[in-house]
Amino acid sequence: MNKDIQLFRGEVFYFTDSPLERKDAYYYYPDGILVVSEGKIVESGNYDVIHTRYQGIPVTDYSGKLIMPGFIDSHIHYSQSEIIGMYGCQLLDWLNDYTFPAEEAFSSPEHAEQIARFFIRELLKNGTTTCMAYATVHPISVESLFAVASEYNMCMLTGKVLMNRNAPENILDTTGKGETETRSLIESWHRKGRNRYVITPRFAITSTLDQLESAGRLHAEYPDTYIQTHLSENKDEIASVLSLCPEHSDYLEVYERTGLLTDHTVFGHCIHLSAKECERLASAKAIIAHCPTSNLFLGSGLFNMPQANYYNLQTTLATDVAGGTSFSMLRTMGEAYKVQQLNGYPISSLELLYKCTLGCAKALHLENEIGNFKPGCNADFIVVDYASTSSQQLRKEHLVRIGKWNIENKLFGLQILGDDRAIQATYLMGVQV
Ligand code: GUN
Ligand code: ZN
Repeated sequence: MNKDIQLFRGEVFYFTDSPLERKDAYYYYPDGILVVSEGKIVESGNYDVIHTRYQGIPVTDYSGKLIMPGFIDSHIHYSQSEIIGMYGCQLLDWLNDYTFPAEEAFSSPEHAEQIARFFIRELLKNGTTTCMAYATVHPISVESLFAVASEYNMCMLTGKVLMNRNAPENILDTTGKGETETRSLIESWHRKGRNRYVITPRFAITSTLDQLESAGRLHAEYPDTYIQTHLSENKDEIASVLSLCPEHSDYLEVYERTGLLTDHTVFGHCIHLSAKECERLASAKAIIAHCPTSNLFLGSGLFNMPQANYYNLQTTLATDVAGGTSFSMLRTMGEAYKVQQLNGYPISSLELLYKCTLGCAKALHLENEIGNFKPGCNADFIVVDYASTSSQQLRKEHLVRIGKWNIENKLFGLQILGDDRAIQATYLMGVQV
């Protein structure tokens, strides 16, 4: 028997498809086993059936705990880790007062490395095994994050922010400099190990059309890179974009005309979209990152999930630290639930979880690597304790007593009450980190 085999026993759960397509689009083995070899998933299923094939191999026993794919956070700013929870502003003031000064410090390689280490540890502690992160305008900020992620063998998607106007001079580039630096970072880091490059024009307020076009050209040159930017987060932002780009009929058109509306583009927020914008986002198969803690904290608005679902948009979930107020995807799902309650759409625990596991992996074209336990996928998984607080323990006992301790209620309790304390272990490619 192969010595490299690792066996994990527990409540194994993963999606096979969207729960909006099929209600039973998942596998759930209450007494399950996950088989891993050389960092990859070999198989999973019922413990009794499968473990007999692996006689003599020790089992790591997480019985009663949930073993599921690690979370994917589709929009987060690692460079804002220090400014989480700053009082009282809406987006544009918050950027000027807190964000831009914090990002200036990333010209220092020591600072960039220190924050990259903090950031990755915080993600792993919260069960997030992949993220799409904004760095800053400084190439060293990207290099630091890719380098630390590589030490952990973590799948990291990030890129240098492109911004050439409407911010302090020392965090601006130019179209030419931004393009040269981006190309060089792509050549050095994209698809090196588990790293993927994300072309990152911050948003239309801080990039001229010329710079957005340059970003679009770069993506055409390297079509398997990603693009990330912000779209329709805040009403003052939208008004400002339309006054900076007067010949455009809506915000999306600015990105559309510059080659940035693609099936590899993740648009953060998308709160105030028109029907026409939804239609174009859907036909491009673009990706939306819904960031509920940020949208509530910065008073940006309520993302309209029923509208997004109506147009068949690919919606993922994201923390948007540090507009967002927590690194925890559990808390993020909980806040997404509350936002959708206010839209009259009490979103299910399964739909929420799908959007930060398989749904996000599929949107990012990474479903053969992460977000599920199909054989051959990378063994990025987490072990989750349903009852890490006394309140959750009491809730569990009650549900057991009334015969409703089922998977939906287990997941919903984690989403509404859980945080980093629920994450008992995080594994990247089969290694506990
Ligand atoms: N729009 C442009 N930049 C940012 C940012 O850093 N955070 C958020 N939430 N929105 C943005
Ligand atoms: Zn953001």
